[in-house]
Amino acid sequence: MGGGTSFPREPLDRNKVVIVTGGNTGIGYETAKWIAMLGAKVIIACRSEDKALEAIKRMKEEYATEKQKGTKGIIQDGDIDVTFMQVDLASLQSTKKFIENFKSSGQKLHTLVCNAGLGFLPLQMTEDGNELVFQTNYLSQFLICVHLIPLMESSGSDDCRIIMVSSSVHDFAPPFDISKVQGKDLKPSSYDEAGYYAYSKLYQVMQMYFMNKRLKESNISVTYQPILEQWRQNSVGISNVLVHTAYIALDIQ
Ligand SMILES: NC(=O)c1ccc[n+]([C@@H]2O[C@H](COP(=O)([O-])OP(=O)(O)OC[C@H]3O[C@@H](n4cnc5c(N)ncnc54)[C@H](OP(=O)(O)O)[C@@H]3O)[C@@H](O)[C@H]2O)c1
Repeated sequence: MGGGTSFPREPLDRNKVVIVTGGNTGIGYETAKWIAMLGAKVIIACRSEDKALEAIKRMKEEYATEKQKGTKGIIQDGDIDVTFMQVDLASLQSTKKFIENFKSSGQKLHTLVCNAGLGFLPLQMTEDGNELVFQTNYLSQFLICVHLIPLMESSGSDDCRIIMVSSSVHDFAPPFDISKVQGKDLKPSSYDEAGYYAYSKLYQVMQMYFMNKRLKESNISVTYQPILEQWRQNSVGISNVLVHTAYIALDIQ
């Protein structure tokens, strides 16, 4: 890969259903947009309806521009299919509601991109009594995976995927200590915000190994996108990192 976008653009099955958490901005936005432009149905799972609807409007405008430019591989007829479903990953109640809403929508699921995340903030605890970064980046998205795996298993596809948008900072996570995982008894003065972000990204990597082992005989594979590692080692451009997440999600060849 060089500095320019080298994403293979081939049309996707229009019945393929993809969820991207935090698809309203950043890496999630570009991932959702490119997957949709290649033809799949995309659901962006976000906490703010206003931001999500604004993002979908922008994606449609950008799609129209790409179409005008004659960009190869993107769908040529109709419009991109991107919809919004509400989830606040800082709340287990909201996360469970999202899971139930998705299940009751009757849709299949082929790909789940666990992208939403935050970090490097002062200590905050959630209404569920967990450290905010741990719950948002890892725990709630773990719950979504676990509850939606049966839908992937019954999707009829032999290639379903779960993608953890992690970070190479997982390397820098402090030694694992089960008593610290949920941030119980933390004090703002001793809170290590970089360490907790790194923990959350490490949990995603551990989840990938654990789930792949459990799902070995299934139609689902689990992988992760170590964002910074790619920037550092390959000097790839930001646009490549963004679309690479979509590439891992769909393995377009
Ligand atoms: N950019 C980097 O340098 C980098 C490097 C390594 C790893 N990563 C990882 O890549 C992923 C995306 O990063 P990004 O740079 O694209 O971040 P971003 O632009 O800040 O976007 C983060 C997304 O997560 C959503 N989110 C945060 N809290 C949420 C909650 N409680 N419920 C639902 N959604 C929530 C945000 O929603 P709102 O818009 O409502 O806030 C937003 O959509 C993250 O997991 C991040 O850790 C990024």
